[in-house]
Amino acid sequence: MQHDVIIACDFKSAEDTFRFLDLFKDEPRKPFLKIGMELYYAEGPSIVKEIKRRGHKIFLDLKLHDIPNTVKKAMSVLRNLDVDMTNVHAAGTIDMMKAALEGLTREDGTRPLLIAVTQLTSTSEERMQQELLIGASINDTIVKYAQNTKAAGLDGVVCSPLEAGMVKEACGSGFMTITPGVRFADGDVGDQVRVTTPARAREIGSDFIVVGRPITAADDPVAAYRRCVKEFLNE
Ligand code: C5P
Repeated sequence: MQHDVIIACDFKSAEDTFRFLDLFKDEPRKPFLKIGMELYYAEGPSIVKEIKRRGHKIFLDLKLHDIPNTVKKAMSVLRNLDVDMTNVHAAGTIDMMKAALEGLTREDGTRPLLIAVTQLTSTSEERMQQELLIGASINDTIVKYAQNTKAAGLDGVVCSPLEAGMVKEACGSGFMTITPGVRFADGDVGDQVRVTTPARAREIGSDFIVVGRPITAADDPVAAYRRCVKEFLNE
């Protein structure tokens, strides 16, 4: 099983992103990076290509959710970008996830890792039940969505680190968990609610942690990245 720290590059432009990445130019370990909607919609495929050219692995976090045929076609475009990981919403159903997997698989059978978002951490149990009329508990929906993701043949899910153990128990240790909501023990929590430290996330069962502001907003981002790697990978 792979394990790594993924830095969330939540920047608004290519310029800001490259200013940040330049800090790492002498770093022997090239950080794995997450590119989300803001940066991708602002800069398009060229930002992905340039970051790949610099030797970084990329998690393209676009959270696709549409009818199966549309998702399949979108994924067959994204597969040419040569990213290492991308994602969909598990709420799109098993059929949609299977279609995504088909679209993402290249003619030679290779493909990036494909993971699914279960319940967004911004969705509370109350909203899910009152607004979306989903009667189950939030933990039951997370486990069910993870099981659906596994049934569709995907590699894992994005979830809170506090939910990683529950997902592993339901889907097996080989099913990947990618977890945002990580903070240093002595750091700012910011707007995240259910957080834990890199070391604890690893203990609970996270395979990849996604860390944004504790690294990007640190006085010394390279030192913060090294600390995160040390705590999570024990290196
Ligand atoms: O800055 P911070 O470490 O909170 O960044 C976490 C990253 O993970 C952000 O890019 C955020 O959008 C993303 N994320 C999250 N919670 C989810 C899904 C994604 O925080 N449930």
